[in-house]
Amino acid sequence: MNTVFHLGSSAMKPACRILFATRCPVPFRFVSTKCSHAGSMGSLSSFRFDHGRCLFHTNRCRAVNVGRAIDEVQSTFSLPGLGFGRSGNLLKLHEFNGNISHRRAIVVANAVRSLSTSVETRVNDNNFERIYVQGGMNVKPLVVERIDKDENIVGGEDSSIEVVDDKINLEKSKAGLNESNDVSVKREESQVEKEAWKLLQDAVVMYCGSPVGTMAANDPGDKQPLNYDQVFIRDFVPSALAFLLKGEGEIVRNFLLHTLQLQSWEKTVDCYSPGQGLMPASFKVRTVPLDENKVEEVLDPDFGESAIGRVAPVDSGLWWIILLRAYGKITGDYALQERVDVQTGIKLIMNLCLTDGFDMFPSLLVTDGSCMIDRRMGIHGHPLEIQALFYNALRCSREMLSVNDGSKNLVRAINNRLSALSFHIREYYWVDMRKINEIYRYKTEEYSTDATNKFNIYPDQIPLWLMDWIPENGGYLIGNLQPAHMDFRLFTLGNLWSIVSSLGTPKQNEAILNLIEAKWDDLIGHMPLKICYPALEHEDWRIITGSDPKNTPWSYHNGGSWPTLLWQFTLACIKMGRPELAEKAVALAEKRLSEDCWPEYYDTRTGRFTGKQSRLFQTWTIAGFLTSKMLLENPEMASNLFWEEDYELLEICVCALSKSGRRKCSRGAARSQILV
Ligand code: GLC
Repeated sequence: MNTVFHLGSSAMKPACRILFATRCPVPFRFVSTKCSHAGSMGSLSSFRFDHGRCLFHTNRCRAVNVGRAIDEVQSTFSLPGLGFGRSGNLLKLHEFNGNISHRRAIVVANAVRSLSTSVETRVNDNNFERIYVQGGMNVKPLVVERIDKDENIVGGEDSSIEVVDDKINLEKSKAGLNESNDVSVKREESQVEKEAWKLLQDAVVMYCGSPVGTMAANDPGDKQPLNYDQVFIRDFVPSALAFLLKGEGEIVRNFLLHTLQLQSWEKTVDCYSPGQGLMPASFKVRTVPLDENKVEEVLDPDFGESAIGRVAPVDSGLWWIILLRAYGKITGDYALQERVDVQTGIKLIMNLCLTDGFDMFPSLLVTDGSCMIDRRMGIHGHPLEIQALFYNALRCSREMLSVNDGSKNLVRAINNRLSALSFHIREYYWVDMRKINEIYRYKTEEYSTDATNKFNIYPDQIPLWLMDWIPENGGYLIGNLQPAHMDFRLFTLGNLWSIVSSLGTPKQNEAILNLIEAKWDDLIGHMPLKICYPALEHEDWRIITGSDPKNTPWSYHNGGSWPTLLWQFTLACIKMGRPELAEKAVALAEKRLSEDCWPEYYDTRTGRFTGKQSRLFQTWTIAGFLTSKMLLENPEMASNLFWEEDYELLEICVCALSKSGRRKCSRGAARSQILV
């Protein structure tokens, strides 16, 4: 049975309904109740509960949050006997009526979020206050959407999403987008671009008749797609940008809202749950049979519980925040980020990232495989990629969060973290010739608060290849830093996002591009760009990757070349006023990508071969190429995506805020000449 929970709003069309579906063992006792609480309930005017079949597509769940939200709904609205068990959860139902004659889908989870006046997090209470949705339902919108589709409409042409109370008319915003932001119409597209657009369209995943994302790869010849038929959060970002730059906002908006719902999902690996606020790595639209020839569509997220290696997708939430900001900047639809549920989503992610732990560093401590490199590659600890995305997401959140009593502590924590993180990375991750020479001459075993060699790095760690390789006029941020350990490998994504987000100083950012230019053959070669340099070989490969046959030297994550990095390189080049570098790389890619069927990655030292186990028709390869082309053609659009240096942040120092004044600030003693 479907448990149907109907919410009506004064501003809501009478047909608006909210559906809950759960797989909880507790039978629902509350059937078809109508309430009219217009006075006390603010915008709510009617409630109804039907018996429901429990539908749920992850492991058995506890859904504390949801249960809590429901409890609050129940107590606030005096709904006795509302038999929601603690195992309740939410998803969007799609009803097919008979032979698909009528479709209707109603988004659910956000409503519960909005209805909840207090969304409890697992963050220590002494970190930040709980997240409070101020004013509960009297003030802010009920976040309920309805997507109605006529039977014959399959494409996005006539789709309409009505967001009740937000009064955002997507069609209007789409029209606006088309007028001002369709940057693709200026010149005739090349054949390769035309093909890429067609392939990108073909990769679009529909949910209840609306586009919600793109599948990771869409190779009809692939008999074993594993999870490449899913929508990955990180993979969708270049698709989203391509669509946004083309003037199509709907798919991005849907993606942002649907993934937001998945954030509430309870996820477990062997009965253990990670922190609330985690976004899944990917999700799949599944069709579930119902009684009487009916089927419904459900979103089935993967938080790592099925992923190879059970890796935690730390970067997903960061990407979500980054995309949310990009959506607002490009479409001008800022109302989306102002919504209560969306604000709550940002706070949950931020709280999760900012929770106090045992850490001594402002960088995020994560396990191996928690980002684009989602297999064991020895990047556990404080990998640059996560730090750069984290920094970017912090900046985005600071810009998007509405500051009020409920968020001011979080905003303060964000500011402090931004400042501490940029200092830490600029000071300790940076290497160029001078710095390497300094490390080469380090004294070790220094016990004092003002040691020069704070992390007790033994100079012998400097790899031989680096001493010869590092150019005179370039530098980069190293891959990782831990006590007595510097991972000197160059990880491209982290370095590019350090440029884009101004995590690096202006001089460092410039020097990173100098290095890429100077080491073009190594980092770009026949196909942009190396995911990391150099590859782990021999004993290092055996020990660090665990003898991973997919990550053999110069393949896949281990020194493979990934065309999807191209759009991020383009963005960094445009920001630094060096688009010609990106143009050169794009031209190289354009020559081969279509011919090679848009591979996921290339192998060998210079990227000459299509990757050993590379998927073909990989969507973020296709979308990354299109986004690069559009950004190069419209560099002014790129400024919506990057950040300039924030001088205010450089001033903030937590030590100065300390009441006790006992803490000694080590920044003064630091080598501050690299800070500007
Ligand atoms: C691989 C990549 C990962 C990507 C996924 C889907 O697992 O390592 O970064 O998100 O494929 O394309």
